[in-house]
Amino acid sequence: MKGVVVLLVLLCSGLTAAMIATPENEEENCQSVMCNMQRKIEVMENRLVVAERQVETLKTKAETNVAFSAGFGGTGYYGPFNVDKTLVYENVLTNLGNAYNPATGIFTAPVGGVYHFSVYHHSGSNRRSDSVLFKNKEQIAFISAMNKDGSYNGSNGIILQLEEGDVVYVVLKDNSWIWDKVNNGGANGWCHFNGILLFAQ
Ligand SMILES: *[C@@H]1O[C@H](CO)[C@@H](O)[C@H](O)[C@H]1NC(C)=O
Repeated sequence: MKGVVVLLVLLCSGLTAAMIATPENEEENCQSVMCNMQRKIEVMENRLVVAERQVETLKTKAETNVAFSAGFGGTGYYGPFNVDKTLVYENVLTNLGNAYNPATGIFTAPVGGVYHFSVYHHSGSNRRSDSVLFKNKEQIAFISAMNKDGSYNGSNGIILQLEEGDVVYVVLKDNSWIWDKVNNGGANGWCHFNGILLFAQ
């Protein structure tokens, strides 16, 4: 009998302890579940903000179309001069994104990315036809045609990784010339400066 009472007491106290402990534990668990959920929601919210920002950036990049092609134009020989001259290709065929300025001859990268540029020049005879494609103040590629009797053509093509705001342009070297004429024989001309954004970065 004593044993049973002791057992009951023990059970009761055990139950009581359990009963007291359970709501506390439950409350503790609930708090920690809430806490975890809140923490997870905060993490998710932060990730969502980052993801939304990345989507916006990608959208802007995907919607950035940059491509230009401009003929030099003119009525024949241009040059020679005793100084270097930036070539202003005025005869715009394509200028998606308006990154090429036909008043200055300068292309300004509207976004960072990988770009392809090419230059095609025609020269008459007995003069150098040396030009240089620049990226900012740096010489990148030479466009040269022979200095001999006859009609020569020089060209070059490059792929450049540019930062937003970098400029690309072509300079005719001193004592050089190019030759161009629009609608001469039906074609658009002989001398062109072209560029296209391959992909934004
Ligand atoms: C350069 O191009 C012009 C125009 O297409 C052409 O008449 C001429 O023969 C070319 N010169 C050479 C050396 O290929």
